[in-house]
Amino acid sequence: MRLPHLFLSALTALSSAQTFRNPVLWEDYPDLDVFRVGSVYYYSSSTFAYSPGAPLLKSYDLVNWEPITHSVPTLNFGAKYNLTSNTRAYVKGIWASTLRYYAKRDVFIWLGCVEGRTYIWTASGTNAAKNNGEVEASAWNWLPKGSLSVCYYDSGLLIDEQDDGSVRMYVAYGNPRISIAEIRMEEDGTFNEVSAGRVVYDPGQGITVEGARLYKKGKGEYVIFVTRPADQEIVLRSTGGIYGPYTSKMLVNRIQGPLSNAGYAHQGGMVDTEEGRWYYVAFLDAYPGGRIPVVAPMVWGGDGFPRVETDSGERWGVEYGMPVNTTRRVSVNLGTDEFKGGRLSEHWEWNHNPDGGKWRLEGSGGLVLQTVDVTGDLFAARNTLTRRIVGPKSSGTFRMDVSGMRDGDRAGAVLFRDRSAYVGVHKEGTTAKVVVVTGFSLTQSSWETSGRGSVVATGPTLGNATDVWFKMEADVTPAFGTSTERTVLFSYSVDGGKTFVRLGPAVPLANSWQYFTGYRFGVFNHATKTLGGEVKVKSFTLAKI
Ligand SMILES: *[C@@H]1O[C@H](CO)[C@@H](O)[C@H](O)[C@H]1NC(C)=O
Ligand SMILES: *[C@@H]1O[C@H](CO)[C@@H](O)[C@H](O)[C@H]1NC(C)=O
Ligand SMILES: *[C@@H]1O[C@H](CO)[C@@H](O)[C@H](O)[C@H]1NC(C)=O
Repeated sequence: MRLPHLFLSALTALSSAQTFRNPVLWEDYPDLDVFRVGSVYYYSSSTFAYSPGAPLLKSYDLVNWEPITHSVPTLNFGAKYNLTSNTRAYVKGIWASTLRYYAKRDVFIWLGCVEGRTYIWTASGTNAAKNNGEVEASAWNWLPKGSLSVCYYDSGLLIDEQDDGSVRMYVAYGNPRISIAEIRMEEDGTFNEVSAGRVVYDPGQGITVEGARLYKKGKGEYVIFVTRPADQEIVLRSTGGIYGPYTSKMLVNRIQGPLSNAGYAHQGGMVDTEEGRWYYVAFLDAYPGGRIPVVAPMVWGGDGFPRVETDSGERWGVEYGMPVNTTRRVSVNLGTDEFKGGRLSEHWEWNHNPDGGKWRLEGSGGLVLQTVDVTGDLFAARNTLTRRIVGPKSSGTFRMDVSGMRDGDRAGAVLFRDRSAYVGVHKEGTTAKVVVVTGFSLTQSSWETSGRGSVVATGPTLGNATDVWFKMEADVTPAFGTSTERTVLFSYSVDGGKTFVRLGPAVPLANSWQYFTGYRFGVFNHATKTLGGEVKVKSFTLAKI
């Protein structure tokens, strides 16, 4: 039976090597900033108040992506990012930010404006330039480099090597107009603004552009990508130096496809391959799932402006030729995580900075979550651990040992967003009951809690069972701008994960954009009476359905 199997996988490899399908990654990685070092493509994304923040993904072909580190290991933007003392930062935090590799000093630089200041983190490139762009996974070590008192809103960083070999650093940023400032990395690794922002593009009265990405293309030609949210992308071009004058041209305007009910591809950037092909990478508003990346080839016209290659119907293509032929692969985000080893995988992010003293990895497997807060408010509870849902439909299953729960504790598997619901355990006295709770909500303006949830279905009392499996089957097929209802189904297993029993109704998912981050799978544990209880999360399984 060996031969046919090998033959089949060889065929699959061959056919999958020729073309790719959009979206390239059906996960919520918004505000992308994509660039290349050698033969490695990097993709930085925004994460709001989730922690660690600003995940960095890598790819060898622009199609298969894997998160490899987070540029902001701890959100250092103030107390509310710790979710303590009745403060919270939902929807604040890391918005569109930027990341580039500074080859001469072998350093990756992340910067982003958070609530009026621009924060900077750097990590040694550990000779990425010499290693064809590669950085060993264990070598990432991000360090805070303070903040500037100026806000580079929606910034795009350019590390601009001059003809004489010197390096200057520029940031394009702003809303509703686009400015360029010059910054400098000092010998000690800190940063200063050396030339304040100058407006280089004003789209005119009443028009907003944002999401700037800044590039140098060839000698002395500067290119800026900006979006007019949420449906146009405009390219600005200067051959007269970094400060312009810039002329502009529409790249895409309400381009249809490649998915229905997912808005228009926008707020992207460009990247070239080693072979000199160009690609435009942008995102779709694919709510309730969030914002997901799509890729299309781009060609440069005689007027010096690029054009996106569309399909025969002038739409963003569902399928294109592979940008790069390579046998190098990144790892796939499906399967089971048993929480082995000394650190969480880069797929996981907490709802805010966690209390580091209240969770631990056992090393040999398992994640222990102690209760951190006594609260009746899911959104005020620290140490809820989340990860992105894979679209269009996937299931997330947590296996948990709940024997350490105390009277009043609440723990389980949550579908986490500004409208949330969970399947979990409520411990009352010595009784642990399986329940489904819906109706958790935040207000859409100040993100205060407006719904604390109520039990809509009750399952069995757990008796002596210590391990319980909680499954969430989430349908995040885009329904943005429609009244089509997507739902999550909850189930549990108390027989070793063999049989899953549905519990509660199909719970509708909110597909509004205001919270920005899409739905996530999460696991939580908080107290309503006293601290001291804990659960052990033994595994999480992510599967397409
Ligand atoms: C937030 O928590 C981190 C540890 O997770 C701590 O280092 C930091 O001082 C806290 N910040 C504030 C403002 O309390
Ligand atoms: C990849 O290989 C296929 C098949 O040989 C070829 O058609 C395609 O042009 C190649 N793509 C690139 C980017 O080199
Ligand atoms: C639970 O465990 C206790 C002690 O081992 C045992 O006496 C009891 O019968 C068990 N109950 C159930 C429902 O299995």
